[in-house]
Amino acid sequence: MSNSTSLSSEHYHYQQLYSFAKKIVVNANEILLKHFQQSGLCIREKPDQGIVTEADFESQDYLMKEIKRAYPDSSFIAEEESSIDETSALKRRDSEFTWIIDPLDGTVNFASGLPWFSISLAVEHAGKVVVGIVHQPILNIHFHAICSGGAYQNDRSISVSKVANLSDAVLATGFSYMRDIDLSPEISRFERIHNQVRAIRRFGSAALDLAYTAAGRYDGYFEKNLAPWDVAAGYLIAKESGATLTNYQDEELTIFSKSFLVTNGILHQKLRANLL
Ligand code: IPD
Ligand code: CA
Ligand code: CA
Repeated sequence: MSNSTSLSSEHYHYQQLYSFAKKIVVNANEILLKHFQQSGLCIREKPDQGIVTEADFESQDYLMKEIKRAYPDSSFIAEEESSIDETSALKRRDSEFTWIIDPLDGTVNFASGLPWFSISLAVEHAGKVVVGIVHQPILNIHFHAICSGGAYQNDRSISVSKVANLSDAVLATGFSYMRDIDLSPEISRFERIHNQVRAIRRFGSAALDLAYTAAGRYDGYFEKNLAPWDVAAGYLIAKESGATLTNYQDEELTIFSKSFLVTNGILHQKLRANLL
């Protein structure tokens, strides 16, 4: 088989994965909408990790059940399931696909009836994220990417912004829910950058922060202490939209990186200089 034939058959395979993933995300979207702004929503504190609601569990249970049925040879990195321990790493190596799921990104917003939240679903194959979806229920905005196939918002191609000056830049960031960390370096970084850009937004869904950077709405995004379920789908969408992605040390980004800097490329080093 020639290289181009094998590439296109791989892409076809990933297209099929995406079609399936889109279908179940659209159904999970309905699960979240059913609970949104309803009184009596069951909310629980997670030690050092914010809160979780019954909608998070229902959305994740639905997604995992459908995936296991359609792709039995799958492993999972799912926020409400378990920690990423050695056993799950071994399982990942042995299974064909790993599904990386945040069934509700922006739970604090959701639980307070604020409309800024999303579902994030990514598929990893042979150590690479190959499909990513970030879906925003309230605005019915669907971002997706398939590796080497570009990035899309509701099926329209998206790309990063062309803003070249920090003074014109609108950025996004976030802060972890961990209580035992010293936030002062983060606050200093925030202040340093805040004083040079047009604005920094902190809306509370890392998946949306990445997708909106990919779509050129934000000119850049930075945050520390994220988990793979927060970023896996947005990582691919940003990559496919032409974004530059590194950690704060300028090293290549992975979905396990502890700091994320994602920009339109033009602003990358200017911002990075303020993150050290
Ligand atoms: C959180 C959001 C938030 C980010 C936090 C995440 P959750 O995810 O993505 O924007 O700042 O670090 O934990 O808990 O709402 O799924
Ligand atoms: Ca999350
Ligand atoms: Ca979540």
